[in-house]
Amino acid sequence: MNAAPTTPTTGGQADLLSVDADYLWHPWSPSRVNAETTVAVSGQGCEVRDADGHRYLDARSSGLNANLGYGCRPVIDAVSEQLSRLMTYDLGEGANVPAIRLAQRIAELTGPRLTRTFFCNSGSEAVEATIRVARFYHAALGSPERNIIVSLDNAYHGATMAAAACSAASSPFADAVAPPGFVTVPRPVPEAGPSGSDGVEALRDFLAENGERTAAVIVEPVQARGAYISPDNYLRAARELCDRHGVLLVLDEVTTGFGRTGRMFGYEHAGIPPDVLLTSKGLGAGYVSLAAVTTTEHVFDVFDRNKREMAGFVHGHTHSGHAAACAAGLAVIDFIDTEGILANVRARGDQLLDALAEVHSLPFVHDVRGRGLLVAVETDSRRRASRMRRHMRAAGVLVRRVGPNVLLAPPLVVTSSEIDRIATSLVAAAGVVGTGPG
Ligand SMILES: Cc1ncc(COP(=O)(O)O)c(C=O)c1O
Repeated sequence: MNAAPTTPTTGGQADLLSVDADYLWHPWSPSRVNAETTVAVSGQGCEVRDADGHRYLDARSSGLNANLGYGCRPVIDAVSEQLSRLMTYDLGEGANVPAIRLAQRIAELTGPRLTRTFFCNSGSEAVEATIRVARFYHAALGSPERNIIVSLDNAYHGATMAAAACSAASSPFADAVAPPGFVTVPRPVPEAGPSGSDGVEALRDFLAENGERTAAVIVEPVQARGAYISPDNYLRAARELCDRHGVLLVLDEVTTGFGRTGRMFGYEHAGIPPDVLLTSKGLGAGYVSLAAVTTTEHVFDVFDRNKREMAGFVHGHTHSGHAAACAAGLAVIDFIDTEGILANVRARGDQLLDALAEVHSLPFVHDVRGRGLLVAVETDSRRRASRMRRHMRAAGVLVRRVGPNVLLAPPLVVTSSEIDRIATSLVAAAGVVGTGPG
């Protein structure tokens, strides 16, 4: 007979957090874990319940990924059905039906230009794979010296070595271990008004001098770190400059992809498809860990044509194209399609920005901006934004703080009354923290 388990599976917030403090190593630790850490035990719709039974409106979609909210039946059913039938089968050696069907489904959405999908398990892995694709691609075309990866100020592309090297370093150690060949250029700063920069000149100048050594430019249509929007004109200019210099344009849509901005993909606003499209959070919607690198037939063909010299694309993961994860991806796309999710994102995003208009005029609020359901209220300091986050949590609304920004990214299924609740709690928090220094 098995011994009775000695580790309780549940407990109250305080109990769990004390065990957490002894055993769990959190990502981005230790700063985020304290007595106010939400130990979530269940969720339904846009709400999560903590270990003491408190309910919160999750206006941050967990990690900007619980895009269809909690308890989304069609996705859960698709995953369980696939787990029972065949949890996975290795794409390195063979194939499985959900992976084949999901690659086809993505191509229906991104074609005719983007047709080939390589699956990974996280946004960082997708960025890592893309950097290898970009460098191998140029090497196969006879230009191995083209290895520079250009990213923008304040970008976030992930936590693995190369992905972190094209994200603004958050630790002095990160710089010390960064691999070579990564360059950052200024981002467009339209929110600074007439004194802002459109960013195009910086990219144009860099490529004029270094275009022949550059493999790829990687841009987020809306930066996850603070909802800074890359204006449509910027993306069009980046497309044109990349074409002129033979550089691959990579759009990192790990956060924006699959509906967050009110279109299926952020690039649709500017009407310019990239050479490589990266998606992840919205594709798995928090139900599974899944990411996709979707590229053109031309890029794929360079690998295919040179398979003898290059041995193909020597890259992959045990769980590339995991069957149950891909089944989730298919169910997520169906749900977005059949439930009118994109229209909801546009309507609720407009509603949120309208409701926040009144905080825009407060002296400590520098900007209120957003696209779809990726919205930021930028304050004058990190401290002020942290205080707002705390006040909103006390009022039952969870948000993310990024630098001086309060970031709002509720699930794409959020209702009109939930948007009212989010806006009301933010306006109230702004009222409380508006007095005194930041
Ligand atoms: C734009 C973007 N790229 C890449 C990543 C990295 O994704 P992951 O955390 O799944 O590795 C993130 C995560 O926040 C992101 O927002």
